Amino acid sequence: MIKTQNLNKKYGSLEAVKGLNLEIREGTSFGLVGPNGAGKTTTIRMLAGLLPPTDGTIEINEIDLTRSPRRIYPKIGYMPDEFGLYKDLKVWEYLDYFGRCYRLGAADRKSRTDDLLHMVRLSHKMQDYVSSLSRGMRQRLLVAKTLIHDPDILLLDEPTSGLDPRSRIELLEILKELSTTGRTMVVASNILYDLSSFCNSLGIIDNGALVESGTLSELSEKYKKERKVYIHVVDGLERIEEILGQDKNIVAISIEGKHVRLRYDGTAADLAELNAKINAVGIRITGVCEEKETLEDIFLKITERE
Ligand SMILES: Nc1ncnc2c1ncn2[C@@H]1O[C@H](COP(=O)(O)OP(=O)(O)O)[C@@H](O)[C@H]1O
Ligand SMILES: [Mg+2]
Repeated sequence: MIKTQNLNKKYGSLEAVKGLNLEIREGTSFGLVGPNGAGKTTTIRMLAGLLPPTDGTIEINEIDLTRSPRRIYPKIGYMPDEFGLYKDLKVWEYLDYFGRCYRLGAADRKSRTDDLLHMVRLSHKMQDYVSSLSRGMRQRLLVAKTLIHDPDILLLDEPTSGLDPRSRIELLEILKELSTTGRTMVVASNILYDLSSFCNSLGIIDNGALVESGTLSELSEKYKKERKVYIHVVDGLERIEEILGQDKNIVAISIEGKHVRLRYDGTAADLAELNAKINAVGIRITGVCEEKETLEDIFLKITERE
């Protein structure tokens, strides 16, 4: 379990993280979502023990991180948002090097390196220089590096940023696999959609503060205000207007050709009833469909600035 209380970080007079209270249960994948500059990197670096908080506490498995860092470091795998140095190493040497940092023996390093390269689909690149890898491959190698000492907790900072669609999907597949291994994951991203495939809970951070948290379905339910509904009619447009006019759930109606567009504030059951009424008077419709609110819509709503 990762628990922060009133976590705060100031860079001079700039308050990058303001009184953050997080509770992330063991074995869960937590997505930390927020726009650029929200304080994600600052938070992740504090959780990794790389940046001292200005105020507040971080407990990992009930151990105070700032007081007993050495007991916690071996349990944490941190993936930074930038690849950093060591580009002149070969792929296997890169992992071997970090294995040495964690004092793994030669046999362990060899088997971990082989297993991890297999897991991140880079076995065929083992003898290549890191500098020759594409960004997608480098991100995958970074994931492998993060796992070299088999940590229980993974802190990943924007793992999918800057990747082309295919590389992004490949990396998401790997993260999804990882999320089923019982490890605790904290993954920062500015793309809510990327986190939705493997995170059980989400926290939305903006201006250094947590503005929302919960499961994805909790957030969707909470922020979904009205439905956008389309009704496609074959005929009877004049009569449909009359029926719609009697439905108190309708916020707005607009008609374009044979398509009726509604903003609807009722439940799915209300909508089914409306559909039945339209059918009952003999208006022929080819379909009723609802435009799903995307995750990004929700995200934009929550982080909307006044
Ligand atoms: N080393 C630093 N010195 C001064 N300000 C910083 C430093 N690092 C980050 N900041 C500022 O703190 C805020 C949060 O940054 P950051 O944690 O990197 O956000 P995110 O990762 O969500 O984009 C931003 O306003 C950023 O400019
Ligand atoms: Mg960042």
